[in-house]
Amino acid sequence: MQTNSSTGVLGHIQMEHREIERMVSAVDTASGDARYDAFVRLVRKLAVHETAEEELIHPMLDAANADNLADRIREQEGAAKRALKDMDGMAINSPQFDTSFEKLRNDVKAHAEFEESVEHPRIAASENPDKLERLTSMFESAEKVAPTRPHPDAPDSRSGNLVLGPILAVADRVRDTLDDARRRTAG
Ligand SMILES: [Fe+2]
Ligand SMILES: [Fe+2]
Repeated sequence: MQTNSSTGVLGHIQMEHREIERMVSAVDTASGDARYDAFVRLVRKLAVHETAEEELIHPMLDAANADNLADRIREQEGAAKRALKDMDGMAINSPQFDTSFEKLRNDVKAHAEFEESVEHPRIAASENPDKLERLTSMFESAEKVAPTRPHPDAPDSRSGNLVLGPILAVADRVRDTLDDARRRTAG
């Protein structure tokens, strides 16, 4: 099979990037409670997606080249994570939220473009296509991690002030799930 920059897990990630763009648009067009819920769904998606990339994808970029590209990508993801932490507690209908969301939207878009134009071709050039195929199901298993809080509409969300801590904490559970999956594969 021919490896290209959409093979296996790389194509899956590109599909998720399009999904994230749609989720960003959903926040844009919604208001009130619907805007809150759309933003919370976006934050969860970003937390799961970026953690799965950190665990499964960027190490392949480390192995593929020596010019610290993976570190640049990790810096972009670290900045997005800090931006989301800063948004914790903001009122969803405040100008402060609008300003932060505008910046987040641009950063998330630029980050996805960087991964697709720089990271994916490098990985495609250096990795075995079978491995890239196998990684797809592992990447998908990250998405199946249950939410930390079973009721995302708990009373404090109705005040309109964002409660992001429990949602961002999903990253730890994704990491654990992928560690287990890797151990099973290795064993
Ligand atoms: Fe990423
Ligand atoms: Fe990504």
